[in-house]
Amino acid sequence: MIIYRATVFDTPENPFTGGALRAEADAALVVDEGRILERGPFGRVRGRWPEAGVVDLREGLLIPGMVDAHVHFPQVRAIGHLGRPLLEWLDRCALPEEMRLADEGYAREVAAEFVTGLARSGTTTALVFGSHYAAAVDALFAEADRVGLRIASGLVTSDRNLPEPLLTAPERSHEEASRLIQRWHGSGRLRYAVTPRFAYSASAELLESDAALLDEAPGVLVTSHLNENLDEIAAVAGFFPEARDYLDVYARAGLVGRGTVFAHDVHPTDAELALLGETGAAVAHCPTSNAGLGSGIFPLRRHLEHGVRVAMGTDVGAGTGFSMFKEGVQAYFLQRLAPDGVPLAAAHLLHLVTAAGAESLGLGDAVGDLSTGKRFDAVWVRPEPGEPLDVGLRHALSDEDALAKLFALGTPADAARVWVDGREVSRRR
Ligand code: GUN
Ligand code: ZN
Repeated sequence: MIIYRATVFDTPENPFTGGALRAEADAALVVDEGRILERGPFGRVRGRWPEAGVVDLREGLLIPGMVDAHVHFPQVRAIGHLGRPLLEWLDRCALPEEMRLADEGYAREVAAEFVTGLARSGTTTALVFGSHYAAAVDALFAEADRVGLRIASGLVTSDRNLPEPLLTAPERSHEEASRLIQRWHGSGRLRYAVTPRFAYSASAELLESDAALLDEAPGVLVTSHLNENLDEIAAVAGFFPEARDYLDVYARAGLVGRGTVFAHDVHPTDAELALLGETGAAVAHCPTSNAGLGSGIFPLRRHLEHGVRVAMGTDVGAGTGFSMFKEGVQAYFLQRLAPDGVPLAAAHLLHLVTAAGAESLGLGDAVGDLSTGKRFDAVWVRPEPGEPLDVGLRHALSDEDALAKLFALGTPADAARVWVDGREVSRRR
């Protein structure tokens, strides 16, 4: 039993529907076997657990572990190619790197770099776009299991319009995915996600065989890309003339539901938003990627108006790194610039990178905030003394001001300690 003593910031009540930042100075979180048994003022709680050790985290802030709802494992080494739109970027930058993961040794190295990148940034849960190669996906699950992160991932499938070494066939991919499900789905904190790359690179038969995997085990997720780029959308309309729109391609295959997370959705129709809202499928908004590839400005207001659940992703490697603070502030920037943008306060940003992400992955009961009964997935944000964030936190005018400074100035280097289920998964040297 351990008591974590800290200034705790979280958003158990959704700020998009009337909630606000919950900020508690000198709070005690009593944690046993990874679960928060009690939470309250340290002065009151401490005496009730005299046998518990105390970890003093009063410098800095304790926030919930962050959730990256869209990030590509095989693209760690491809971060930072600037200046190309989606299809050209895939062809020139991302896919040549992804083909290198056919080599198992290479894939293991990248898996280690990837999991390190998440953990050191304070990302404790992620929905990860895997690799086209089953052995590489296996290496990712093994590394996530070793380090202890909460990960959903799966075999990426495509059977047309990509370089030949990345293509599969419905039967083969179904077999490989089944084996991965048996090995990893539900093992510890790991889950499987059915992952057709995007409608652009899939036949209807492949999408249907992917959807059939949902019957193999309860709790299997679905993830893919949707409405990211105008050229991509036009091509998909040509490949699937019978479909009403991009989302309909996935809906016809049986891939749209509450366990589905689509990345981007920068250019949706109202009919697509209505279907996302009705089915409970979530959208991962990836603002550094959307800006970097010039994909467009995410229509957050229209998503909210249609009741679509929105989470956030880094979209590494089109995104510019693992920092969810950076994604948060970038979402803020783009909404500021959009003619119909949603004014975002710091509490919205914290909610988007924590609780909203947890809910999109069906984990809202377990993680996303630091309430009694939740798992202890947490990040101790403790900037080095004298760094601008340290100065900012010391001179913040209010809790909201401190949180805004965290998004403006925070980097992965500020995640001094990170826990998942009460187990430390990263500690700054
Ligand atoms: N659409 C299909 N594949 C990808 C990818 O790897 N990155 C992004 N941003 N969009 C995609
Ligand atoms: Zn992506």
